[in-house]
Amino acid sequence: MTDIPANQAIIVVENLRSQFGTNLVHDDLNLTIEKGVITGIVGGSGTGKSVLLRTMTGLKKPEAGSVKILGVNPFSETKGGLGLARKWGVLFQDGALFSSLSVLDNIRLPMKEQLGIHGQFAQELAYMKLFLVGLDWTVGQLMPSELSGGMRKRVALARALALDPEILFLDEPTSGLDPIGAEKFDELLLELTHALGISVVMITHDLDSIFKICGNVAVLADGKVIVDGKLDKILKFDHPWVQEYFGGARGRQVQAQQQNK
Ligand SMILES: Nc1ncnc2c1ncn2[C@@H]1O[C@H](COP(=O)(O)OP(=O)(O)O)[C@@H](O)[C@H]1O
Ligand SMILES: [Mg+2]
Repeated sequence: MTDIPANQAIIVVENLRSQFGTNLVHDDLNLTIEKGVITGIVGGSGTGKSVLLRTMTGLKKPEAGSVKILGVNPFSETKGGLGLARKWGVLFQDGALFSSLSVLDNIRLPMKEQLGIHGQFAQELAYMKLFLVGLDWTVGQLMPSELSGGMRKRVALARALALDPEILFLDEPTSGLDPIGAEKFDELLLELTHALGISVVMITHDLDSIFKICGNVAVLADGKVIVDGKLDKILKFDHPWVQEYFGGARGRQVQAQQQNK
């Protein structure tokens, strides 16, 4: 693990501008992500949450500004993007598994492609990841089409954990799951982060997840992070989207549920 103490910055985004043609997605966006915390990124549809995740993980180059992840610029050629890539895992919004590969082969793929690990050793590691996400070994032989939505998310999570990442990026991991499946997935994430000391950056619109498992929250609006920090700070923030989202009927219901626990 990188030698950064808990609650220190592991990702620093400064003055980020992201643009597609004339579509200005991020304009002078700043965000710091703390180590050892589950940080939820929320915001309306199309506010650039997924683009931000792609930028933080080195997949989309910023038009301006800078990104540092674990102290390194992911876009610098010299500092070795590949070495760095092993330090994080990503579960993309569609969670796409390769449909022609078995579950086990899906999990083994990053091991083979990025570390050159294959054969028996890769197989044993892949089974370990499968157990880690609460699935038993028989699932390894199944094809993605044979899995339920919840299982597919777990397998995608196992694959994101394949290289023992320090940071896990998740783009809407509980979307498409029923409330019970989503709750189980949240519990799993919480257990994994406690057990493995992983930091998580999670894009979500799931208020249950935000209240239950996110230590920090960052809100995207108007091309910026308009507020970030602990939830009580966010809830008091005077911005129409924030008040509507957290203070609406659903937001109040989730808050009441959490207070009764
Ligand atoms: N590859 C791309 N090419 C052009 N425009 C894109 C691309 N990816 C995202 N965008 C645009 O960037 C904006 C933010 O998208 P996105 O980050 O996916 O939003 P969300 O917050 O819903 O995840 C949208 O207007 C989207 O159309
Ligand atoms: Mg998105």
